[in-house]
Amino acid sequence: MKSLYCSLPFLFVVVCSLSWVNASANSHENFLDCLSSYHPQESSSISKVVYTETNSSYSEILESSIQNYRSFTTNTPKPLVIVTPLNISHVQATIHCSKKHGLQIRIRSGGHDFEGLSYVSQVPFIVIDLVHFRSIDVDVENEEAWIQSGAITGEVYYRINERSTNLTFPGAVGHTVGIGGFISGGGYGLLFRKYGLAADNVIDAMFVDANGRVLDRKLMGEDLFWAIRGGGGGSFGIVLSWKVKLVHVPSTVTVAAVRRTLEQNATQLLHRWQYVAPNLPNDVYSVVSISTTNSTENGERTVVATFVSVFQGGANELIPLMQERFPELGLVREDYIEMTWIESILLLTGLTNQTKEVLLDRSYKNFFLSPSFKGKSDYMRKPMPEIVIQGLLSQLLEDEARISTLNIIAYGGKMDEIPETETPFPHRKGTLYKISYYVGWQEEDNSNPQRYISWIRKVYKYMGPFVSKYPREAYLNYRDLDIGRNNNEGKASYKQASVWGRKYFKENFDRLTYVKAKIDPENFFRHEQSIPPRFH
Ligand SMILES: Cc1cc2nc3c(=O)[nH]c(=O)nc-3n(C[C@H](O)[C@H](O)[C@H](O)COP(=O)(O)OP(=O)(O)OC[C@H]3O[C@@H](n4cnc5c(N)ncnc54)[C@H](O)[C@@H]3O)c2cc1C
Ligand SMILES: *[C@@H]1O[C@H](CO)[C@@H](O)[C@H](O)[C@H]1NC(C)=O
Ligand SMILES: *[C@@H]1O[C@H](CO)[C@@H](O)[C@H](O)[C@H]1NC(C)=O
Ligand SMILES: *[C@@H]1O[C@H](CO)[C@@H](O)[C@H](O)[C@H]1NC(C)=O
Ligand SMILES: *[C@@H]1O[C@H](CO)[C@@H](O)[C@H](O)[C@H]1NC(C)=O
Ligand SMILES: *[C@@H]1O[C@H](CO)[C@@H](O)[C@H](O)[C@H]1NC(C)=O
Ligand SMILES: *[C@@H]1O[C@H](CO)[C@@H](O)[C@H](O)[C@H]1NC(C)=O
Repeated sequence: MKSLYCSLPFLFVVVCSLSWVNASANSHENFLDCLSSYHPQESSSISKVVYTETNSSYSEILESSIQNYRSFTTNTPKPLVIVTPLNISHVQATIHCSKKHGLQIRIRSGGHDFEGLSYVSQVPFIVIDLVHFRSIDVDVENEEAWIQSGAITGEVYYRINERSTNLTFPGAVGHTVGIGGFISGGGYGLLFRKYGLAADNVIDAMFVDANGRVLDRKLMGEDLFWAIRGGGGGSFGIVLSWKVKLVHVPSTVTVAAVRRTLEQNATQLLHRWQYVAPNLPNDVYSVVSISTTNSTENGERTVVATFVSVFQGGANELIPLMQERFPELGLVREDYIEMTWIESILLLTGLTNQTKEVLLDRSYKNFFLSPSFKGKSDYMRKPMPEIVIQGLLSQLLEDEARISTLNIIAYGGKMDEIPETETPFPHRKGTLYKISYYVGWQEEDNSNPQRYISWIRKVYKYMGPFVSKYPREAYLNYRDLDIGRNNNEGKASYKQASVWGRKYFKENFDRLTYVKAKIDPENFFRHEQSIPPRFH
């Protein structure tokens, strides 16, 4: 009855959600019974990893990996049950019982989803939190590793570094980002201009589908293996672990940072940067980080752009290179420092002067700027005219933008060499750079952040004419529900989903919908921006 109502269109939405309210109390009792009878011999072990609101540690577990409190207010719907599986049979039991009792599953690895989709749903739901699935097996000899999805990036860097200081994984800049969501959406970091995305370096995976089948690359086939490397988490099934190629880092890495305010020609320098940075050698990661500050002289606010280069090599190579390619920046001795790869990660993630053990701290709140934020992204295929940059930067002086930042990240290098269809991630050749926009606010505004969200939407609108078009591309891992979403039940038509699907995947969207139809025809794994199944 419920499923009949709910598969009908909007007219029945109210009836549908009312029936859920009544159903949810019972269905979660039934769900728990189902779990404990799924594998009777293991009933005691699964109960140790099942949390409902009556368990005292439920809230602590739920909050543990939340990185954006915009999606965690008192009004946010909470999961009926959280399961923190210890082994595959716990995952299979949770899938089986959720399906049987009409509950949705949200999968959580590191909890960094910008819109909280790994722990929030508008329908009764269960969270599978992969916190215990985080082993990292490093094979130095073959330069490979098996990494479970619940590991955080910092743990991966640390465990590889323990075994070899000249090997690493092309992971995220932020050390708390979860491997599961990160690789599922592509995943870039300091090495992506040299080695491509994290997803480009995956060679096998362990996956559980909606029927509880466990599949590796051979069993899942190349279509599904293609889809999970960038097609986004939460659409196909649960990736438990990934086999990745490791990559080489030199013993010396150089980090250079030059700060320039509007008064120091930040606008002109950013204009110039657009022509220089995408053409730098693959060994350079180049980002301009823009925010506002009270200027030291008169206390008035100004915009400050920090031009950061992370170079896989010594200063003796980087400095002449930058002086030749970008003399306007005026890089001097005080602006750079040599260090190891691991130290460069600590520095870029704001953990200077901490020992590298901080990389293992998954409870670290790696807030961009404030505990709550809204983010968006754009890809650029043409440089912005100087007047447009001026107009963009001046909006950072508005009152709503006190806690805001733009991160402008150069593409090019290896990213230009990988064909657009190689993985679902399509933002390759011809992309000059990505802009990510963030706005944050103080805790007291979290009940009504509308003015900040309006501000970032206005900036995004301003940029419309100057960014990639047809589609206006966006980065899936900077998830943005403003660009389109399913109705609450999470079932969009192909046409509705194309709206955001083409922005994230361009022409790869179609192939993703066919893969989805094959692996999960009933659309069990779904969320506000999941891939809908499409049948020929
Ligand atoms: C502070 C911060 C720093 C960041 N830095 C970077 C960066 O340097 N580079 C970059 O590319 N991105 C970065 N991101 C974005 C990040 O890559 C995405 O938010 C990513 O989805 C996070 O993965 P997660 O496992 O932590 O998130 P989660 O919230 O756990 O998951 C994200 C999505 O994937 C699904 N999912 C999670 N695990 C699995 C799984 N095992 N199988 C199937 N589906 C799964 C979830 O259901 C959800 O839909 C950053 C985000 C934040 C908040
Ligand atoms: C949560 O509470 C239930 C009921 O008391 C108990 O069976 C279960 O073991 C508890 N879960 C954990 C993880 O302790
Ligand atoms: C799952 O874990 C439990 C407890 O750790 C253990 O008793 C059981 O044998 C495990 N099952 C499998 C299939 O690994
Ligand atoms: C990498 O480091 C290992 C020791 O950790 C060393 O044996 C090996 O020669 C190094 N390889 C390169 C290419 O530097
Ligand atoms: C800014 O640019 C102008 C014109 O190119 C130049 O004269 C001036 O010295 C620059 N200022 C700084 C601080 O670099
Ligand atoms: C900047 O100035 C404002 C208002 O003058 C003040 O409230 C704020 O604390 C200052 N910020 C910093 C970082 O100094
Ligand atoms: C880190 O330590 C150095 C030397 O001990 C010190 O000069 C510097 O100010 C410290 N940096 C931070 C951000 O604490």
